[in-house]
Amino acid sequence: MIVKEEQSSKKLDLKSKVAAYWDEEPCDTRYASNPDRLLYFKELEEGRYISLPNIWGFARFDTARGLKVLEIGVGAGVDFCNWVRNGAIATGVDFTTQAIELTREYLELDGHPETSYRLLTADAEQLPFEDESFDVVYSYGVLHHTPDTPKAFQEARRVLRKGGHFKCMIYHSPSWVAINLWVYHALFKLRPWKSLKQVVFNHLESPGTKVYSVPEARQLMRQAGWKDCRVKLYLHDGDLLNIKLGPKYQNNFIVKTAQKLYPRWLIRALDKCKSGFGVVMHIDSVKEQ
Ligand SMILES: C[S@@+](CC[C@H](N)C(=O)[O-])C[C@H]1O[C@@H](n2cnc3c(N)ncnc32)[C@H](O)[C@@H]1O
Repeated sequence: MIVKEEQSSKKLDLKSKVAAYWDEEPCDTRYASNPDRLLYFKELEEGRYISLPNIWGFARFDTARGLKVLEIGVGAGVDFCNWVRNGAIATGVDFTTQAIELTREYLELDGHPETSYRLLTADAEQLPFEDESFDVVYSYGVLHHTPDTPKAFQEARRVLRKGGHFKCMIYHSPSWVAINLWVYHALFKLRPWKSLKQVVFNHLESPGTKVYSVPEARQLMRQAGWKDCRVKLYLHDGDLLNIKLGPKYQNNFIVKTAQKLYPRWLIRALDKCKSGFGVVMHIDSVKEQ
């Protein structure tokens, strides 16, 4: 009993740290700087789809007209805006009010009345919706951040109707992102026994981030009740060290030098040979009838 209480208070503690992290700098917002707010969001949107072009084929915003879509973890709202633009009956949730406010601001600037969508703060582990309420449940780069990822997968399935589509991106490992973090935080610090997962947990974005191998992701899906799923891996700019450094690394000589010398051509060439070391893992499945 006491052990269970301790575990749940640790989870709560971690969850508030995750929320504090994303409240301070909502996802990707460092990639835009235009003082005009609409142009700021457009800059964010352009950067996102240049960096993650595979989102289009995965999300299929263009097929969403009239469908009830739930996006879990809207962040700065770029994908959510595309659900709304394409005529989905869209509901978006995020842990942080900051993300919800940003998303609402973008939608307003993009010309969508508040009556054309629903946005609310909610926890992916406890979604405030009835069973089988949505035709599509979509979540991009979110569920690996929440402390109880298996519970969040179960919730996503619970609120999806039979025959509905679940589309989700979580981080993959072994990937170049995880290996690079390991070289810096384990090898250079003379702690090579640390695993990729440990290093990611402590150093990739919000505290407690997880990464999954393809078999682990399939297991996560099975545990949540799916019989089958499709899994695809992609390189991210992070795998290519092609990212704008955050405050933690901005003035770091080693990281800046590594960015200059990084053999991107080799990483790209290996990826063409289907090495499967990209950090982006797309998972999709249809809920059985
Ligand atoms: C990396 S950002 C991704 C945002 C957006 N999907 C995107 O791709 O830009 C992660 C987002 O997940 C949200 N998040 C993390 N844990 C959550 C939870 N348990 N429930 C709802 N949102 C959560 C964070 O607040 C943050 O906005």
